[in-house]
Amino acid sequence: MSLFKVDKAKCNYCRMCALECPAGVIAMASPKTIPSLAGGGEERCILCGHCVAVCAPGAFSHREIKPEGLERMSKRLLPSPAQAERFLKSRRSIRAYKKKPVLRELLAKVIDIARYAPSGRNSQPVQWLVIEDRQEVKRLAGMVIDWMRMAIQTVPDIAGQLHFDLMAGAWDLGADYIMHGAPHAIIAHAPKDLPLAEGSCYIALTYLELAAYSQGLGACWAGWFQIAATSHPPITEALQLPEGHKYYGAMMIGYPRHRFTRIPIRNEPAITWR
Ligand SMILES: Cc1cc2nc3c(=O)[nH]c(=O)nc-3n(C[C@H](O)[C@H](O)[C@H](O)COP(=O)(O)O)c2cc1C
Repeated sequence: MSLFKVDKAKCNYCRMCALECPAGVIAMASPKTIPSLAGGGEERCILCGHCVAVCAPGAFSHREIKPEGLERMSKRLLPSPAQAERFLKSRRSIRAYKKKPVLRELLAKVIDIARYAPSGRNSQPVQWLVIEDRQEVKRLAGMVIDWMRMAIQTVPDIAGQLHFDLMAGAWDLGADYIMHGAPHAIIAHAPKDLPLAEGSCYIALTYLELAAYSQGLGACWAGWFQIAATSHPPITEALQLPEGHKYYGAMMIGYPRHRFTRIPIRNEPAITWR
């Protein structure tokens, strides 16, 4: 079967499929011809689905992506520009969580939304490890503290600048500055040799944080965990990622204990206009 088919009865020759294709897969010889496969197009297709998604009459059908299988989209379903702006500006890093665990279905929903994040060449390389068990999240945080204590001994200058002593001391008193007592953690990993996997994981995690906020949850980048996980072998072993996979980042996640009633100020953007 060829890469795509175009229903001649439905095609309105708008050319949008060809214009939106990122890889020049679709050729239209003249404004009144049906789209056809460009030379070498089959090898270039990145399966992004834009050709099918942009075709309003539903004339375009890709071998792997059928118009009937795609969710319908309309402007009515989107937040207004003001609502979207408020949503993005009011997302906060959450560091105080309720004890209540999040149902697996809701964590799965948030991850499901995050899979719509952009990824390099639509490679969608991100895989997720969900640490559902609060005690395991705490155990991982404790391993970061172990790593900090080692750093205090081996690289005291750096450890001092980064206040590892304070975080380790607080841990001894029951305060968790690593995972902030979050009930769950979500880790993004991907095949280690895949180009653009790192950026794709970061963007997916960013989507995840926003998706969590949209669903009444709170999340926060686990930066200390991220640094320790890549340099402290016990954490790497504890994660048990699939063979050939690399850890790229983690979020703590749960129900926020507090509601933010104001939006904190941020630096003015530094922009060069040319
Ligand atoms: C890569 C990255 C790592 C981070 N690591 C941590 C962390 O380990 N612990 C933490 O409490 N916050 C962490 N944060 C959250 C930042 O501190 C937070 O984004 C910043 O203070 C701004 O606050 P806001 O996210 O509420 O706007 C991290 C953020 C990023 C982007």
